[in-house]
Amino acid sequence: MYVVMISPGYPQEIPYFTRALAQAGARVLGVSDQPEGALPPEASRHLAAYLQVPSLQDEDAVVEAVRHWASPVRVDKVECLWEPGMLLAAHLRAALGVQGMTVDETLPFRDKDRMKQVLSAAGVRTPRHARATSAEECREAARGIGFPLILKPIAGAGSADTYRVDGEAQLEETLPLLKHLSEVNVEEFIEGEEFTFDTVCVGGEVAYYSITKYRPHPLIARTNEWVSPQIVMLRDVDAEEYAAGREMGRAVLRALNFQTGFTHMEWFRKPSGEVVFGEIACRPPGARSVDVMNYAGDTDLFAGWAEAVVKGEFTQQFERRYNAAIIFKRAQGQGRIYRTEGLEHLLAKYGEHIVVIDLLPLGSPRRNWRQTLLSDGYLIVRHPDLARALEIADAVGTDLQLYAG
Ligand SMILES: Nc1ncnc2c1ncn2[C@@H]1O[C@H](COP(=O)(O)OP(=O)(O)OP(=O)(O)O)[C@@H](O)[C@H]1O
Ligand SMILES: [Mg+2]
Repeated sequence: MYVVMISPGYPQEIPYFTRALAQAGARVLGVSDQPEGALPPEASRHLAAYLQVPSLQDEDAVVEAVRHWASPVRVDKVECLWEPGMLLAAHLRAALGVQGMTVDETLPFRDKDRMKQVLSAAGVRTPRHARATSAEECREAARGIGFPLILKPIAGAGSADTYRVDGEAQLEETLPLLKHLSEVNVEEFIEGEEFTFDTVCVGGEVAYYSITKYRPHPLIARTNEWVSPQIVMLRDVDAEEYAAGREMGRAVLRALNFQTGFTHMEWFRKPSGEVVFGEIACRPPGARSVDVMNYAGDTDLFAGWAEAVVKGEFTQQFERRYNAAIIFKRAQGQGRIYRTEGLEHLLAKYGEHIVVIDLLPLGSPRRNWRQTLLSDGYLIVRHPDLARALEIADAVGTDLQLYAG
């Protein structure tokens, strides 16, 4: 089987999916704008061939180039796990006559307004919303929706250009910050806890799912540098308290006719218990979340996904033994990391529950915490008991410090 994989080496965890495709028996044809020599070895070693294109943005040119390049073989699948390449993948499928998600099926996963329109038509509770292409349209939408509200890009990621607005004065302060966007989504602000519902599906059936809790909300984590954001993969996903979220997740997948692959949905639970849809992507969650899933269930979802794509089945065993949390760290100060404090103490106290330590080595320049949730590194911890898992995660948040200067 020949599988075209768009962006096989980027972002960070994609090489593990590329490797898994090859290990599942696929001949993987990589397409991206990176020079071949810049591909991470986990990706390049598992590619049967690679085509570097000048830009992935120029979809027509990429489609033409791939059509010509791949013409000696019959391509069976086109896969992409990188959000900006989803529509390109759908266009390529059409051009190559390959089965899988069409352009029309992909659009509601990419356009946050269309997404909510399709879902509310299917009876899913979504935030009240409107699209706006000018400051005046934003004001008009705000009058209809009311405050507090959220302003965000139609196809954003990583909470970039996303603002909570509490009143008219703040709206006027925020509008100039969005000038560079041609279109924004104006949304009712949902007060409540924020969760995910992530799946691997095969032929329209949910073969695996997990629920994570964000601590704190991503928007808060992205606006306060001192926070050590946590993503907590819950062990007891079948608990009654998540029933409404699970049902919403399944309803959303049905409404969007999702068939095979990874999905990543975000949802809110209001203090009243009402659940509200946030957004959905037809790719795995980023920021090492698939590793966290693997640690929570002693499984390999890179392989599970690849098997679903290549063989149309899911035979990975998983046992929900742990709550697993990833905690991202941000150094104090600017420049290069020169000191780490508190790690020995954490290891002495919680060592057996800390499964990954991946901090930037001393001497490295800091990463841009606004651009990548990975920030200056992360730890993954796990424990069968949720309260204990959260205690350890919080200890990593408060007791581990990185200094830069
Ligand atoms: N309607 C809303 N009500 C409350 N909070 C919201 C709303 N919309 C977005 N947010 C907050 O902003 C964050 C980012 O918004 P959203 O998930 O839509 O964008 P994103 O940039 O695609 O996110 P990411 O790529 O980080 O998942 C959410 O995780 C949530 O914390
Ligand atoms: Mg989001």
